[in-house]
Amino acid sequence: MSEPAAEPAAEPAAEPAGVPAAGLDKSRSPADAPPIVVDALTESGNGYRFVVARDGRLHQLAFGIGAGSVPVTVGRSLYPLALPTYGEDPHRMPALRITHADGVMTTRLTYRSHSEADEDGGRVVRIDLVDGDEPIDVTIVVRVWDDYDLVEQWLEITNRQSASVVLHDYASASPALAGSDPCLTHMGGGWAAEWTAFTEPLTLGTKVIESLGGIRPHLQAMPYALIEPAGRASETEGSVVACAIEWVGNTRLSCERSHNGVVRVCAGANPYAAERHIDPGETFRAPAVLWAWSDAGRGALSRRLHRFTREQVVRDGTSIRATVMNNWEATFFAFDEAKLVAMMDDAVAIGAELFLLDDGWFGESHPRDLDDAGLGDWVVDRRKLPNGIEALTDGAQARALRFGLWVEPEMVNVRSSLYAEHPEWVVAEPTRERREERNQLALDLCRPDVRAFVVNTVRRILVDHPGVSYVKWDANRAVSEPGSSVLPADRQSHWPFDSAAGVNDVMAAVAAGHPNTEIMLCASGGGRFDLGSLRHFHEAWTSDNTDPLVRLQMQWAAGWFLPASILSAHVTHWGGKPLAFACAVAMTGRFGIDLDTTACSPDDLAVLRRATTAYHRVRDLVQQGDLYRLVSPLDGERGAVAFLSKDSDRAVVFAFQLDETPGSALAIDCLDPDRTYEVQSISLTDDALPTVERSPGSVLGDEGLPWVLDQPLTAAIFEVSAVD
Ligand code: DGJ
Repeated sequence: MSEPAAEPAAEPAAEPAGVPAAGLDKSRSPADAPPIVVDALTESGNGYRFVVARDGRLHQLAFGIGAGSVPVTVGRSLYPLALPTYGEDPHRMPALRITHADGVMTTRLTYRSHSEADEDGGRVVRIDLVDGDEPIDVTIVVRVWDDYDLVEQWLEITNRQSASVVLHDYASASPALAGSDPCLTHMGGGWAAEWTAFTEPLTLGTKVIESLGGIRPHLQAMPYALIEPAGRASETEGSVVACAIEWVGNTRLSCERSHNGVVRVCAGANPYAAERHIDPGETFRAPAVLWAWSDAGRGALSRRLHRFTREQVVRDGTSIRATVMNNWEATFFAFDEAKLVAMMDDAVAIGAELFLLDDGWFGESHPRDLDDAGLGDWVVDRRKLPNGIEALTDGAQARALRFGLWVEPEMVNVRSSLYAEHPEWVVAEPTRERREERNQLALDLCRPDVRAFVVNTVRRILVDHPGVSYVKWDANRAVSEPGSSVLPADRQSHWPFDSAAGVNDVMAAVAAGHPNTEIMLCASGGGRFDLGSLRHFHEAWTSDNTDPLVRLQMQWAAGWFLPASILSAHVTHWGGKPLAFACAVAMTGRFGIDLDTTACSPDDLAVLRRATTAYHRVRDLVQQGDLYRLVSPLDGERGAVAFLSKDSDRAVVFAFQLDETPGSALAIDCLDPDRTYEVQSISLTDDALPTVERSPGSVLGDEGLPWVLDQPLTAAIFEVSAVD
């Protein structure tokens, strides 16, 4: 991966005739002077090494592991362009395409200067490029995170022309990777299948993974990918590049493999039907894209990404999360105060710590008994809750439970007072029917008044109900007529980008205004999962699909990038699998319960209680420990994961039998081989005393534990503690 991805056949020769090195101060790079090298490297020497060719163009000399050790031998044009623009490489798709004010469609960028400064915890390298003929400034920005050995990268584009320019393509990052057998792993699949993993070889041509629809795009394609340049990596071996597009809107990742084997990856906001004008003097900032690497397989990479996400991305990411009881799958819209109070009593008996009241609590003139009314009218439905939310928050407090509320503040039902007052607030095109999805329309976040409404909606709910310390923020439709009443006719294509930026702004404002409120990000399940929006949230709802067989696979794939602490995992009856198995699967994420406990048998309640008690004993490991993936559940036979404490003192191991295929042993090869461990089994199905055995870490790593499961849909949990 660190090899310089030289591609002499594909790039223009050095100093092509007639190409002025505009913007380059040639006095700094005379023909015999050493070339200008710009490094955006972590302390480990990984990241980007760029070189300025003698014609002034900026090239990528190396990317990834060991980029800093790649020798700078020549400042010529033998290496891939750092930022391929339209017109520079006629055989390839560009990362950046701009139509300039005078109609010129190509962009020719040369190096002007670079700088480095400490900003927001990272070291920020900025490389300024200019087009000497068409006044436009383009800055490649790379934020280097030494502690996590990764970088984030984005583009800033400033229009210096006297009229607006049009951005057609604006990938935030476009590294080139060299490798013998490149393959791509990506996730998607739509509602209830959003973390379905696909791994495929990158053959000649372009593979594009993109999402559309504007509002819950990540249901369709997650903004995450693994690229393995030399063939599939294992958990401990092989070279892997991780990419995460930090954008709540539509995203696009393209991998173009050319004849010389080089893969050009372009990643960023999806520019499809999203041409963006930049006015004179305006600066457009493309969203950040994160890159991380490993030459020791996927496991080490994931652990680094998890630590980064907990410490630098999500809110309050290093604290322990409470166990939630949610009423959605239990009641849907049909509940009343008595039902919720009964569930709260069960929550206490089971050991849950937070009660989350989901959709259906609001709507006065248009009560929300189904999904066809009430959205937008954020007043309590007194028919269901005659004593208001206060009765519930007081009831929760009396039971030492925290209380949470569901909101979907960016949406409106036509059957609502809000729509009657503000039909102009919705996303719509003037000549088109306003088609509903899930019986609702989307509010237009390009409008400042709508952005203020959304922020105020959440603020008012939290101010009016001070007992609410947790919010689930949902968004349940995509957009089919992407028009805005505040955008001029010739700028309607701004909607995809600007409305996503608007969503990000309101999320940021809510997070800033309510620093003590915990918030779950949800969009019809995992329809919003990017690291950009996760900065304003504490966790995300992994998927509406809670069938534990499917969830195990989804959580496995999500865990390539994201820590268990932010992957909400609630036990339900979805899929009709054994409850103990469902509990064990949910215990490998942020555990919660979402089933009608008032209808549960005493045996089932006992399983839920045992699971909650056990989870609380090990949740520091699950939520804050290091994840080791031991057996992949993706082939549907068995699965196993371990979470290890930082000092290797303690671990919890989860093993799952999925079908009839017998297993023999479970090697737990993450423990300290020189220590002795006590292994204690945890049963969710009975109160029998745990079995306890002692073994050296080396034996647990090599021979492992016997595979004790022989029935499909069963799970075993082991608590492992060092005794010396
Ligand atoms: C979609 C979410 O994913 C569900 O968990 C639930 O909150 C419903 N929306 C409520 O309408």
